[in-house]
Amino acid sequence: MTKKASIGVTGLAVMGRNLARNLARHGHTVALHNRSEQRTRELAEQFGSEGDFIPAYSAREFVNALERPRQVVVMVKAGAPTDAVIDEFAELLEPGDVIVDAGNAHFADTRRREAALRERGLHFVGTGVSGGEEGALHGPSIMPGGSKESYESLGPLLEDIAAKVDGTPCCAHIGPDGAGHFVKMVHNGIEYADMQLIAESFDLLRGALGYEPARIAEIFRTWNTGRLDSYLIEITAEVLAHTDAATGKPFVDVVLDQAEQKGTGRWTVQIGLDLGIPITGIAEATFARSLSGHANLRAATKGLGGPSRTPLSGSEAERFADDVEQALYASKVVAYAQGFNQIQAGSAEYGWNVDLGSVASLWRGGCIIRAKFLDDIRAAFEAGPELPTLLTSGDFRKAVEDAQDAWRSVVSTAVRLGIPTPGFSTALAYYDGLRADRLPAALVQGQRDYFGAHTYRRVDGEGSFHTEWATEARAERPA
Ligand code: 6PG
Repeated sequence: MTKKASIGVTGLAVMGRNLARNLARHGHTVALHNRSEQRTRELAEQFGSEGDFIPAYSAREFVNALERPRQVVVMVKAGAPTDAVIDEFAELLEPGDVIVDAGNAHFADTRRREAALRERGLHFVGTGVSGGEEGALHGPSIMPGGSKESYESLGPLLEDIAAKVDGTPCCAHIGPDGAGHFVKMVHNGIEYADMQLIAESFDLLRGALGYEPARIAEIFRTWNTGRLDSYLIEITAEVLAHTDAATGKPFVDVVLDQAEQKGTGRWTVQIGLDLGIPITGIAEATFARSLSGHANLRAATKGLGGPSRTPLSGSEAERFADDVEQALYASKVVAYAQGFNQIQAGSAEYGWNVDLGSVASLWRGGCIIRAKFLDDIRAAFEAGPELPTLLTSGDFRKAVEDAQDAWRSVVSTAVRLGIPTPGFSTALAYYDGLRADRLPAALVQGQRDYFGAHTYRRVDGEGSFHTEWATEARAERPA
């Protein structure tokens, strides 16, 4: 009997190809398929020595090469191309087989596809895969959704190829239907927030202290040896230290300052609004990208007045880099706290029962936001799965309280100098908003009741109330 493959990958652009190679390198026989045969052939020729591949040149041949339950990983563009490939393979598969979408799909699409395929007896697993091309090859962080049953056959393979931290795979079953893609979406939202906060730190160090990128790279390198130790800080130091070969200028100075996005940050914000979760750090980061991209608006407003710039005093300047580290840390905790709240809310809304400690654990390695402090987040959620926010967990609470003076000072320096810090500022406003004994939301309620009879609740009793503003306010008006 000819040997069959334990898994197949269709869509062999760089992510699909690297996932296939990673699987083969771990001893799994992998069937290969791509719309154009050339890619399949090339992969088998170039990397055939890395493991067992079964190249297939038609969808049927591919499906026939798989042992049962067949596991088909689809690695094509999100949207219509994914639907087309799923439809094609659903026709050829049998009940119990598994289709895996490992691209960045919207979780609502994943829910729809999962429900449709379930009707036909097929398992559909939407899985987040983070870590870029290198991660896919050497060990990504993997966030599979779909049925528990599908994880029984698929899980061991995914755990094999995932990054490992302290011997634990950065892969775990997240929850049913769209849970995996939802969690990956929030991962990307946090990625946006983290990148924005790091970028603001750079901008502050440069704007307030006049440091060159290479010197700031050194500061980031030092930070990376402490509590901020993370992949994003590490690559930031490398990007800042890089010199443009063509001009000899710092690389960062020759790059157009308009950040792009493929859309996962935008989805996170949209869903945050739908769920009513204030993910302000992610939202500001997403809007900061869109502001940067409005070239015409920026050109039209060039020269709008700014503050007269009083330089930092000697002592302020001396401690400024350390203050920025503290502001960055505290703002980062807020951004992650918000992201985890969004996962909690999504999980409650869709009945996913997502284990937040497990999510933090599998983000410790392989993914773009991998960071030392995710182990602290894991510990916090393992100790208190019902934690209302990371900000109330013992160690984080203390760290943020200790950082707050420096954090406030950095935000006020930024305001004084006219350096935009939407990420730092919104994080601090969120912190103060949560801490406040009373919020001006009481006044907003009064306004709503005045103009729209929208009613309000009272501090001293149950029920809804309405004031007859026309008579009561008139009586109080000064004569
Ligand atoms: C990852 C990344 C990746 C994502 C880009 C998109 O986890 O490996 O999040 O999935 O495609 O980073 O980012 P943009 O939206 O900035 O293009």
